[in-house]
Amino acid sequence: MITLDDVRALDASDPLAEFRQRFLVPPGVIYLDGNSLGALPASVPGRMDHMIRQEWGVDLIRSWNSNDWINAPRRLGAKIASLIGAKANEVIAGESTSVSIFKALTSCLQLTSERSVILSEFGNFPTDAYMMEGLAALSGGRIRQSLVASEDIESALTTDVAALLLTHTHYKSGRLHDMADLTAKAQAKGIPVIWDLSHSAGALPVDLNGCNADFAVGCGYKYLNGGPGAPAFLFVAERHHDKVMPVLSGWLGHARPFEFRDEYEPAAGIDRFQCGTPAILGMAALECGLDIMLEADMASIRAKSSALGDLFIDLVESRLDGFELRSPRDATRRGSQVSIAHKDGYAIMQALIEQGVIGDFRAPDILRFGFTPLYVGYEDVWKAVDTLAAIMRTDVWRDERFSIRGAVT
Ligand SMILES: Cc1ncc(COP(=O)(O)O)c(C=O)c1O
Repeated sequence: MITLDDVRALDASDPLAEFRQRFLVPPGVIYLDGNSLGALPASVPGRMDHMIRQEWGVDLIRSWNSNDWINAPRRLGAKIASLIGAKANEVIAGESTSVSIFKALTSCLQLTSERSVILSEFGNFPTDAYMMEGLAALSGGRIRQSLVASEDIESALTTDVAALLLTHTHYKSGRLHDMADLTAKAQAKGIPVIWDLSHSAGALPVDLNGCNADFAVGCGYKYLNGGPGAPAFLFVAERHHDKVMPVLSGWLGHARPFEFRDEYEPAAGIDRFQCGTPAILGMAALECGLDIMLEADMASIRAKSSALGDLFIDLVESRLDGFELRSPRDATRRGSQVSIAHKDGYAIMQALIEQGVIGDFRAPDILRFGFTPLYVGYEDVWKAVDTLAAIMRTDVWRDERFSIRGAVT
């Protein structure tokens, strides 16, 4: 049995330990929800203050040039690219993941214009499926959405499929899809694949070009620590850039936006996937998060995240009854989170949060714990399970106040 001394020794030899001070996690809080909203980088308050008082307040509109606001989507895109195995000119930051999914889906439809099915799996993150539904409705019947069970994806890869949209790390279970294998199998049938990397980017090594990926999207506010509602990102493989005429043909994706022409003419390369004016304040915060990520070694992040997840599973299974593991036990098949199920999961999670251990709840019964190696240590995992054990032992979670549902769970 692992002991508290053992986990302290793991923290003492942790090569990522120094990154903890780069984040402002409140004292007394064990933050296990970086898979939903990353913690606040210590550099953000100062950067935002400068951005607001100087760049916005004093430099005003001149900042688009003098502070290089105009290039933020490309500059951040290039930084994200290096975290996901893409070339600097293949990623653009901006909008939300949902909008980026729409851009990617409509691009696939242009690459496979005679095909009519957009395919995904049941239980994918809802926005992925909902964006498909909206697109199918817009097509007036030409395009049909198809959702299949995870184990049926390969057999559903038929020659009428125009796009396959999958989330690499499943948002609930943390299960990983084999990106290289599924991309190759889909492409063998002429199907471009869109990978939703929301729970992968910054959490584990991703090699989009090594997998010959077509499109990818992802959130800036999870493991990239970009802050609430941070800009998302869109990856488009270079080979597709000039074959796609963006459907969200906003003025900043124009070849020469400041000529203000009446007709749309797409910019060359990834720039054509920009749409409207970028959210510069959000970009500034996201860049702080990215700059920290770029200093960290991804192999060390992955190794520690796997070890933290394994430790959590071992401790839960040895100390607690009534919870069921809903994530792969094998860390190589799991992202940076562990989910356990309990029929009273909502109330238990609320009680845990009140004690300073912050995870989240996903209906109907999942308690979800994210392990962000840059600011979570081994002793944190120990204390989190200790707190959970105390909550179960004392039955404190049965208090009525823990059953009141907030708008966000
Ligand atoms: C897999 C996945 N895709 C997309 C999103 C959210 O997209 P958006 O940034 O548009 O809200 C989430 C949010 O948790 C997610 O888990």
